[in-house]
Amino acid sequence: MDRIRIVGGARLTGTIPISGAKNATLPLMIASLLTEEPLILENVPRLADVIQLQRILGNHGVDVMINGKRPGDDPNAGRTITLSAKTIVDTTAPYELVSKMRASFWVVAPLVARMGEARVSLPGGCAIGTRPVDLLIMALEALGADIEIDGGYVIARAKKGLRGGEINFPKVTVGGTHTALMAAALARGTTVIENAAREPEIGDVADCLNKMGAKITGAGTARIVVEGVARLSGARHSVLPDRIETGTYAMAVAMTGGDVLLQNARPELLQAALDVLVEAGVQVTPTNEGIRIARNGAGLSPVTVSTAPFPGFPTDLQAQLMALMTRAKGTSRITETIFENRFMHVQELARLGARIRLDGDTATIEGVDRLKGAPVMATDLRASVSLVIAGLAAEGETTVNRVYHLDRGFERLEDKLAACGAAIARISE
Ligand code: EPZ
Repeated sequence: MDRIRIVGGARLTGTIPISGAKNATLPLMIASLLTEEPLILENVPRLADVIQLQRILGNHGVDVMINGKRPGDDPNAGRTITLSAKTIVDTTAPYELVSKMRASFWVVAPLVARMGEARVSLPGGCAIGTRPVDLLIMALEALGADIEIDGGYVIARAKKGLRGGEINFPKVTVGGTHTALMAAALARGTTVIENAAREPEIGDVADCLNKMGAKITGAGTARIVVEGVARLSGARHSVLPDRIETGTYAMAVAMTGGDVLLQNARPELLQAALDVLVEAGVQVTPTNEGIRIARNGAGLSPVTVSTAPFPGFPTDLQAQLMALMTRAKGTSRITETIFENRFMHVQELARLGARIRLDGDTATIEGVDRLKGAPVMATDLRASVSLVIAGLAAEGETTVNRVYHLDRGFERLEDKLAACGAAIARISE
């Protein structure tokens, strides 16, 4: 199993290219199930989750073609993939595939919308909390699907097709909103989604669906209206930049003191996180090419932050901010409001010398003068990268084990950091 070895202490300087967003790519790939025609996606990141979803879609009969690189192509440019769901050969998504990646449950919506039936395994729990799918099921029922749960599978049926309806989410849910959008796009009549998630990835998927012929307005606000259409066509769409990757590298630069351009990053996708960095004493400068992050000499100030749905501070940056605050001058407080168990990084950060106390959903972090390298264990995607951030500032050597978690969501992480001067390498065994 691969490990990542870091020798801390180097300042990061240079340029880091930001890849296409994982959390937009996955639902965009799933949207290919809605049409018989090819969907071409550009700026797709090379990630283990993308490969896993290719397998899952392949099982339904989707043909996935990845464009090769030609000599002279920019090595940092994302890939272009073409997904053709001309014939759906199977409407079942089995446990063995869905249990590996929760987002694959979202195939239920396009399958029932186009084929009138889907049988998809319940995803089960995961390291960051219970993560139920009751609201996704509620959305499908509101559009006329009959739902049965049998042997760990959700069976959704709409033999005469879905019909538009009112969906009012009692809680903001990204997966629920994706599900509602994809199902409503092919339903008969109008659907109104209230308390919709406003995450930029929802807007990106809605843009792509509109290019495919859907009639969606209001994406990016809490009220989305969808006029159903009888069929959708193929389209070409470029995935928006990854705001979580952007925020992660911004925190890595802030941690080491340094000066880096995050190329292609868009500040409006993560304003809340950038505001927190400014409050902590980090220089954040939007430029024509991206966002420049610098911290020269000045110490880090502590912050008090709660995670919240977009446009609030993202839960997917909570672990990284906690790593950063281990070196602040004073006491920080971070409250996690989205997932009840997203604190697996706390005990691993403690192995590096961090002083963090957990009390329910709030972590209190006493900044320390120095961290010391140690072997640590990656537990989930964002927790793992918080250990990398801490390792970059720790004295001596840190090894991060179970790196496959990182490969799910960060493209060429060690190359991007090494190119800016970090002493980081992958050890393959
Ligand atoms: C998406 O997960 C992201 N995944 C997550 O990113 C992200 O952390 C999360 O949104 C919140 O921003 C992808 O986009 C692939 P939710 P999702 O439905 O859609 C509760 C990462 O590291 N809920 O918005 O599964 C749920 O338990 C990942 O890249 C219900 O109660 O999250 C949570 O408390 C991890 N019932 C809250 O809603 C439901 O039916 C928000 O979850 C669905 C959700």
